[in-house]
Amino acid sequence: MIDFNERARDWDSDPAKVERARLVAGAMHSQVTFTPQMSALEYGCGTGLLSFALQDSLGQICLADSSPGMLAVLAQKISLGGLDNMTARLLDLVIDPLPQERYDLIYSLMTLHHVADTDVILQRFHALLKQNGVVCIADLDQEDGSFHGADFEGHKGFNRQALQQALQKTGFQNIRFQTVTRVTRQVDGQPKDFPVFLCCADKVG
Ligand SMILES: C[S@@+](CC[C@H](N)C(=O)[O-])C[C@H]1O[C@@H](n2cnc3c(N)ncnc32)[C@H](O)[C@@H]1O
Repeated sequence: MIDFNERARDWDSDPAKVERARLVAGAMHSQVTFTPQMSALEYGCGTGLLSFALQDSLGQICLADSSPGMLAVLAQKISLGGLDNMTARLLDLVIDPLPQERYDLIYSLMTLHHVADTDVILQRFHALLKQNGVVCIADLDQEDGSFHGADFEGHKGFNRQALQQALQKTGFQNIRFQTVTRVTRQVDGQPKDFPVFLCCADKVG
């Protein structure tokens, strides 16, 4: 398994990760009408790259992750930035009780493929959204497993049609996909591109 606590300190020093978050934030702006009154949950926030790219368009943002190391780096960034609309929270929706809060917007970047039970997470997102809330999931398209390599136990990206069906089954509507960017990794000594989609869907009241 990937040790995100260990990787947290250097996470933001990779310009590709910063750029990926910036591109996903731009794509979200094309799909969602942002207002300063909106409350948001970022799930699997890591060091908060995506939320930092969105924070001046939103109200209160809860940034949740299961890695204390990621959250420590994030908390330092929030404090240094003097940002009063961002809060870091240790949370694993697979095992923790559902939080009390409800949100207008829930988003996630490159996290879902690390969570074994996607159906449970989608149900939890649906339950945590207010009526007419929106979920935005950015992740890898289905791949052959070379993104993480043979030992990885998570998902090999997502088939768009299967994810659409899972979202529909959970109760989401107006499900739309777009390709946002690509992650390039060395595979067998050659650069290989892995497309990243953004999927947005509505919880209709
Ligand atoms: C690939 S990183 C992406 C981090 C961040 N979204 C970004 O794009 O920079 C995946 C993140 O998901 C978190 N994560 C993995 N499984 C999780 C779970 N079950 N609940 C909450 N967070 C989880 C990890 O700790 C890690 O921070």
